Amino acid sequence: MTRAVARSHPNIALVKYWGKQNEQLILPAAGSLSLTIDAFPTTTEVTLDDRATADTFSLNGVPAAVGQTARVSALLDIVRAVAGVDTFANVDSISEIPTDAGLASSAAGFSALAAAAAAAYGLELDSRALSRLARRGSGSASRSVIPGLAVWHAGNDEESFAEPVNGPDVRMVIVTLSTGAKPVSSREAMRTCMLTSPFYPAWVASTKWTLDGALEACRDNDFTRLGRITELHANRMHALIQSADPPIRYLTPQSVAVFDAVAQLRAAGRSCYATADAGPNVVVLTTPEDAEPVARHLAELGETRIVGAGPGAAVIERGIEP
Ligand code: DP6
Repeated sequence: MTRAVARSHPNIALVKYWGKQNEQLILPAAGSLSLTIDAFPTTTEVTLDDRATADTFSLNGVPAAVGQTARVSALLDIVRAVAGVDTFANVDSISEIPTDAGLASSAAGFSALAAAAAAAYGLELDSRALSRLARRGSGSASRSVIPGLAVWHAGNDEESFAEPVNGPDVRMVIVTLSTGAKPVSSREAMRTCMLTSPFYPAWVASTKWTLDGALEACRDNDFTRLGRITELHANRMHALIQSADPPIRYLTPQSVAVFDAVAQLRAAGRSCYATADAGPNVVVLTTPEDAEPVARHLAELGETRIVGAGPGAAVIERGIEP
């Protein structure tokens, strides 16, 4: 039996991905920018099983729900088609992140799965090809393949991959307010926004120039501009989400309190900017110097953890089992 183990870390978007131009290929409506972090990795083992009649998937030692297993199987189908192999696989994932808490567990998960599956089925993929493969599992996973700051390009199937970006040395303070499951998955919420929000076309158009600005800020090593863009874009995404019909709201009063506290810290001279993905937790982009004082101050509002730039997806073991 052939097996491979890969590890990948979550990423937090500074310029968000929210909306697809092609749902089947997971092509985003606009590009995005993120930081792959050095905490909460997912480690995934893929073992080919000649006798199996279907794929299996366990998460943290527990067999996963049918829907989750189907998403894993769909990614394995893509790998099998390219490799010309039809053997099913057993997939075991250990995630160190609370699943569905809005901290992008699917990004690390599908990035690790793509890397482990490609290795187990004998595909030699460069980082672009691996990013494109991870994208098919979950859009944001395309960026977790890449270490540190990563831009994920919009475009057709060949053009839509993530690649590294040079930029300022940043830290993030993750403020965990809730580890419960989110009310609506980001996939479903994105679709509702696309179909029902009158603001959606403006969101897509503005995200394109927002990304251009963020990439310029990275090139100029301009932390302040990057931070301002990060907070602005998060607020715009949550405004869009709240404008869907039926409305969706991921931010809680506690999340808003963290955004307010971050504004106060800025007024007091700290370099820090807030963002949040599809959940109540808030992530604060800050500098290496201000990370400690910002985390200390926010600790009264939630559990804080300082993280920095982390590695891209990597195969950590591969081999043939008897
Ligand atoms: C709010 O990548 O989870 O975190 O492609 O449908 O699997 P699918 O969505 P997913 O969405 C992530 C949304 C976000 C913003 C971001 O990471 O850019």
